[in-house]
Amino acid sequence: MPEFILKKHITLCGMMGSGKSAVGRNLAQKLEARFTDLDHYIQDQENRSVSEIFELYGEQEFRRMERIFLDRLLGSEPHIIALGGGTISSKKRTDEIRKYSTLCFIDAPLTLILERVQRNTNRPLLTDGQGQLKPEAEIMRILEQLSAKRAPFYRQADIHIQPKKGYTVDKTTKILISNLYDHARQANDQAPE
Ligand code: S3P
Repeated sequence: MPEFILKKHITLCGMMGSGKSAVGRNLAQKLEARFTDLDHYIQDQENRSVSEIFELYGEQEFRRMERIFLDRLLGSEPHIIALGGGTISSKKRTDEIRKYSTLCFIDAPLTLILERVQRNTNRPLLTDGQGQLKPEAEIMRILEQLSAKRAPFYRQADIHIQPKKGYTVDKTTKILISNLYDHARQANDQAPE
């Protein structure tokens, strides 16, 4: 594992469906590093799906769990962590996460995200009371609203990559790795002797 780029954790942020989990897992394989998907970690710890947590306890409680479990992960040895789409929603939280990690924003186009999020029903913000996906136009409206609210914080990331339609997970991961090396080199150059 190249310790050079894993001095701190590597965290991946971006909208749901942007590819955080797939790219994070692939990155971890390539760097031979540990990988945690924050949503899966919460599910394992709570023994419930994200949808069940939203349904039983509400979004606010999910956000509280998200904070606590991410803090726990950030306190462990440096590895790769895929955040949830809403993990970053304030400047304060973004600053905290950046203190312990190199934060990478996966900025996929909303049209691509719209296509991907309609492939399953595991995102409670996009489903109705019966667990069915909301109509496409409504999903797009929700994505646009969330993206407008979160983009200012996502953009504070250390690394910003913009995968396009047709990019494979591998291609996006390679672009990310090249950015991670550049970022680590710059940070090293700036470090006091
Ligand atoms: C959410 C994104 C989801 C999950 C939850 C809420 C959001 O994670 O944490 O459904 O607020 O954008 P992914 O981004 O991994 O889908």
